[in-house]
Amino acid sequence: MTAAPSPTWDPGQYLRHARHRARPYADLLAQVGDLPGDPARIADLGCGPGNVTAHLAGRWPAARITGYDNSADMLARTEEYAGPTAGGGRLDFAHADLTDWTPAETYDLITSNAALQWVPGHLDALPGWLDALAPGGTLAFQMPHNTDAPLHVLLRELTGSPRWKGLVKDAPRAADSVHDPVVYLDRLESAGCRTNVWETTYMQLLTGKDPVLDWAKGTALRPVLTALADDPEAADAFLTAYRDLLREAYPARPYGTVLPFRRLFAVARKEA
Ligand SMILES: C[S@@+](CC[C@H](N)C(=O)[O-])C[C@H]1O[C@@H](n2cnc3c(N)ncnc32)[C@H](O)[C@@H]1O
Repeated sequence: MTAAPSPTWDPGQYLRHARHRARPYADLLAQVGDLPGDPARIADLGCGPGNVTAHLAGRWPAARITGYDNSADMLARTEEYAGPTAGGGRLDFAHADLTDWTPAETYDLITSNAALQWVPGHLDALPGWLDALAPGGTLAFQMPHNTDAPLHVLLRELTGSPRWKGLVKDAPRAADSVHDPVVYLDRLESAGCRTNVWETTYMQLLTGKDPVLDWAKGTALRPVLTALADDPEAADAFLTAYRDLLREAYPARPYGTVLPFRRLFAVARKEA
């Protein structure tokens, strides 16, 4: 698996599509059963701006929850959610780089929503994270599994084209940054977990002008925008070229623009 360059994040842009981005986390948590600890200890890996991490306090109101992320911009945005929770628990956020995060305590639940696709080598980190679970604890993660979608294919083609390859060729996330679902299932079952792995393709209905470009500015385009940060003219030209390709691939319809989005889910429960 090829290492992707570390992008800078823009929480404001990312949160423009917060509803579509949060829904899979709710669908993931719906498959998580009872936790062994009471109150539970929970980690959310790659927590971003913290809005989805806060959902955990709704389900486990007494839990002590920590969201981890390596983006200072994202962590700054989590401040509004940090502190005591209504059920007597606590929600905190901390800096951690998942490429070398080693859990320093035991967790009842470790979650991750839409983050591991940015972490090269995440598959090999899973056994260590499972080791950090209490008996009967759960590891639950979701990530996009759609690097074969036009959104990503067109981005890789454009960045590899003669006009752009000198500036941003290796910027996009690699096509192999997420494995096939069976690879996760095999790794988790082989570690002795009871595993539930599935995929869902959401027919995301986006509105507004060039909404797929707007979506990509929050995620897939981050590495390209990071690479072109010091050259606004080039960034504008790139965005125009990519926008034109997206308009063709995802045509605007009278009711909006459909962005089909396939996501991979895994819930692994450690033996009690
Ligand atoms: C697409 S956002 C998802 C944020 C949040 N989980 C959500 O569902 O809204 C991906 C997040 O992963 C974080 N991330 C990417 N690579 C990381 C790493 N190596 N260590 C920690 N966080 C990382 C990014 O900073 C970003 O906040």
